[in-house]
Formats: sequence, C-alpha cells, structure tokens
Amino acid sequence: AAATAADSRYVFEELPWGNDVNHHIADGYNADILIRWGDPIFPDMAEFDPQRQSAEDQARRFGYNNDYVGFVELEPGRGILCVNHEYTNEEVMFPGLGRQDRDGFQGMTEELVNIEMAAHGGSVFEIVKGDDGKWSVVLDSEYNRRITADTPMTIDGPAAGHARMMTGADPTGLAVNGTINNCAGGITPWGTYLMAEENFHGYFWTDTVDGDGDPDLSAQAEAESMGRYGVPGRWYAWGRYHDRFNIDVEPNESNRFGWIVEVDPMDPTSTPVKHTALGRFRHEGAESTIAPSGQVVIYTGDDNRFDYVYKFVSAGTVSGDKAQDMQLLSEGTLYVARYNDDGSYEWMPLVHGEGPLTAENGFDSQADVMIDTRLAADLLGATPMDRPEDIEPRGDGAVFVMLTNNSRRTPEQVDAVNPRPESNFGHILQMNEAGGDHAATTGTWDILVQCGDPNIAEVGAVWNPETSESGWFGSPDNCALDDIGRLWISTDQGSGWGRTGKSDGLYALETEGELRGHSKLFFRCPVGGELCGPYFADNSETLFLAVQHPGTDGTNDFVGFERDSTFEDPATRWPDFAEGMPPRPSVVVVTKQGGGQIGV
Ligand code: FEO
Ligand code: CA
Ligand code: CA
Ligand code: CA
Repeated sequence: AAATAADSRYVFEELPWGNDVNHHIADGYNADILIRWGDPIFPDMAEFDPQRQSAEDQARRFGYNNDYVGFVELEPGRGILCVNHEYTNEEVMFPGLGRQDRDGFQGMTEELVNIEMAAHGGSVFEIVKGDDGKWSVVLDSEYNRRITADTPMTIDGPAAGHARMMTGADPTGLAVNGTINNCAGGITPWGTYLMAEENFHGYFWTDTVDGDGDPDLSAQAEAESMGRYGVPGRWYAWGRYHDRFNIDVEPNESNRFGWIVEVDPMDPTSTPVKHTALGRFRHEGAESTIAPSGQVVIYTGDDNRFDYVYKFVSAGTVSGDKAQDMQLLSEGTLYVARYNDDGSYEWMPLVHGEGPLTAENGFDSQADVMIDTRLAADLLGATPMDRPEDIEPRGDGAVFVMLTNNSRRTPEQVDAVNPRPESNFGHILQMNEAGGDHAATTGTWDILVQCGDPNIAEVGAVWNPETSESGWFGSPDNCALDDIGRLWISTDQGSGWGRTGKSDGLYALETEGELRGHSKLFFRCPVGGELCGPYFADNSETLFLAVQHPGTDGTNDFVGFERDSTFEDPATRWPDFAEGMPPRPSVVVVTKQGGGQIGV
C-alpha cells in the first residue's frame, strides 16, 4: 500500500495552523521560555525594567531579536548556549518612541542608539538541566559573556591589513569593534561559535543624498563596490552619533563588516576573529561538516534577491587539537555555485589571478576578491538565486538550501533551479555533492519542495500530496537536522505573512522515501514573530527555538490589529502578558513530556 501521513517518521500529532498572541507546540511536548530580551546573564542584577534602560545595563543582559542558537555541551545536562542578536525594533523596545521615519529618526537620541548597539551581537552563557528536566541559565558561570556592536575583534585572512580595511581609528586594518546583524551561524567541529554578519549595509549612514533622498555616491571612488552591497542602507541612526558608521567620514568601515566571526565560547576573555577567507557578503549562516579528506567545509548563503550560494573548504585538515583547528578558517578556498538546467552544478573557486579575477578587472589581490566577493562571483557567472538563507550539510553529502522567496524574479529570469516568477513563498533545494564528498566541486541538484498553498493553482506549490492544510508553509529560513538526520524547517514570512494567514513556525520535512516532501507543523510563533534557531541538543531530547521580533512583522495585517505595533500598543505582550511590558524576543526550550527524543 502507498505510504500515508500516518507512516511519517516524525512521530507527533500535527499542530493545527493558526495565528494568535501566543506560541503553540504539538500535544505531548513542553515549550518553556528559557531567556528573554533584557534578562540578566550575570549575577546580582535587577529584574529587567523597560522604563529604566541604559546602554551599560543592556550590555549585561540578553540582547534583542535572538536568531541563531548553538549549544556546546560541557557534560550531559550542562553546556554553553550561543545566541545571535540580529537587529532591533526600536518602536516596541522604547517607551514613547513610536515608529521612526527611517530618514529622520527624530526620536533616536544618542543614548537610545547606544542601547541598540548593546542589544546587538551575541550572548554566550551556561545552562543546566534540572532534575525536573527543565533547563535554566547559570548566572554566576565563568563562561557568561555578551558580545556587542562595540566588542574588540581582530581581522585575519587575505584581506587583513589591506589598505581598504584601514580606518582613522585603526591604521593597521587588523582590529575592528563589534559585529552586527548576526543572523544564523554555526558551531564548528572544534566547538567554536560562528556568527554570520548579514544585513550590515543597513547600519551605514550618509548625509549626502540626491534629489530623491537616496544616498548619492556618484563622487565616491567606492561607488561600484558600495552600490553592489547596498551601502549605505540608512536603516538606523547610528551614523549620526558614531562617525565610523557614516561613510562620508569613514568610507572603509563598511569593508570591515559582512564577514564570518569566530568566537571561542570556552574563553570569555578571547578576542573574536573576523575571517576574511570566507568572503564578504550578507552571510545568512555558517554550518559546517568535515570532508573525507579531513578538510572542514562551511556552507554560507548570501541573503539577497539574485545573490549566490557559497562554500568554503579549508586548506588544512581538522586535527582534534582545538588551538590548531581554530586556524583552519584563516586559509582555504571560497567557491560559488553555478547550477545547470540539466540538474548538475559546479563550484567555482574565487581565486585571484584565475579566470577573470585579475587586475584588469579591478582585482589587484586576493584581498580585493574577498572584500568584493559579490563582484568577483558576478564575473564568474554564478547562478542568481531566490535569496539563499540557511544551508545545512548532512553527513551523506546532501546539502539543503533554503531559498526564502523572490518576488522580483520576472518570467524571463526563471531557470530550472529558480522555477517560479514572483516567488512569494520560496523553495528548498537539495544538492548532492559528488561521491558524497563535501569538498567535491561538482554534484547534482533537485528541488525538495516548492512552498506555498498547494490548493491555489497559480501559486505553483509542490509538496508530497499527504501534506495537510496545516503542514504546508511559506518562506523557509532556518533549518536543522536532528540526531537521526531528519530535516526541520523554520519560517520567516516577514511582513508578507498575510499572504498565508499562518503564523511562522517549525515544520518536520521528510527528505527520504515515498513521503519525501511531506511536511508537518510542530510549533508555531505568536503573531508577528518569526522562528529562528532551531538547534537539537542533548541527543535530540532538547530542541532550542528562538522567537524573533514577536508582535512586529506584518501585524498591521493581523485581523483585529490594523495598525503598527508599538511599545504602548503591541500586537502581543508575549511571553509575559504583563501590562507595561512589551513583547520580548525569547529562546524557547522544547522537550517531550516524560522525556525522550523529539519526534520519535
Ligand atoms: Fe536574517 Fe536572511 O534572515
Ligand atoms: Ca534568517
Ligand atoms: Ca528571512
Ligand atoms: Ca526577521
């Protein structure tokens, strides 16, 4: 007999779809709040009071908009959680502020900007599992640390020390303060935490605007590079108070962002390193695996419409000696993907002097190739994709690529690997590296699912037909594999969730056998939140999820809430539901009631 949904390898009763002020988990599971924006991560601190915020205080508390979650186990039931804080939503963070006009930022004082900067970056802290099976934060742990937009970092790899990396504050081109817009990330095989710098362009400012109020770069020598990266984005007011974020004053500071940052969570005094060998673009994440050769391979997408899929292969091999392995991301080859319509692909190396990457075309050295990775990949003829988000390699040579959506692809721009014009719901690509070897430079690809509502013909969705009305989703973003290699997808529909009416959530997506392409809803977010994490730990008995920006995205489409969410009038007060407390991005811990592996 043909397989049905009842035969799914993911054993849980599917959660019905919906959208309301709270989060929901499948029956038989707990979904507990571990830590919220503003919670202390050091001892002897007062409870968070949103009416009494300061930059100094925020730098000792859990930051805003938790995205990537990683876990480094110290021993069973104890470990270090590493959490990215991607960005800030000032209109729901700060009392009385309201939504800011992105040109004027009339309410953003220097102190509010400095609080925002302290709420960015990452949090590293110890957690422990109690006898009741619940995890909690160890406030007095020696490992606890905040990383912010001001934390001193070093720069290594091909672009380190290059003239384009030098600024007035750093004539060496080797030292930079802070990391920003850290979206997804990764934990390396040697137990370090990788933070991907995504939409860094949005933090750079200019006072030089043209007649339409858009940044005017025409007089700048950097115009081509900045234009390709969208610098300056002027999303935040930081450049008003901090010259390094104003390109009129310090044009090179933007070259020092858009990298992969490595942090040693075992040493809170260690200096994070920006590895320029992994290229500069809007890095979504940095998930790794070890090739048969022993080389480490890191997959990383450039989340922009019509941008590319990349992987880095280290020159050296994993030794098992942590100090030595922490050198592996300093040297290697960065590749960009070209997908052919016949289902094959090639990884093309971004190496100075090879092919078109020469001085004649503006690349004087490998430093230029890494600083202008996008321009180099353009010249190589990489395949423009529907916004590459998280990418997850599996031990068997499979690679799962989340392509979240791309409403701007025209019918003329459609190709086999990006098969829909005006793709509002995205798709998921499976790559199979040749010979199951993640260091291979060729392989085959096919599309796992085309997302969206399968009942609306124009959408062009493709799912396993056993998928229920609760199981289909739009806009895949982050993903994770559990201990038995099963794929789980979290979604981010952004302000477009009104198109599905469903809140964002976590879905179990079958990749094997007759039920390949079958999806089941496991967890869903409160209104206006997207789901990040996910991360399986503790032999897949614990699942960490991150609910990002609850109460914000698209809430003016929420039935009964036809206005922008603000501090005073949020779409939800999740997870506290206390008067005067705004919604708080939070990490959620999922465990099975009575214990045991999740979905088994
Ligand atoms: Fe920060 Fe591409 O999501
Ligand atoms: Ca993301
Ligand atoms: Ca996204
Ligand atoms: Ca988001």
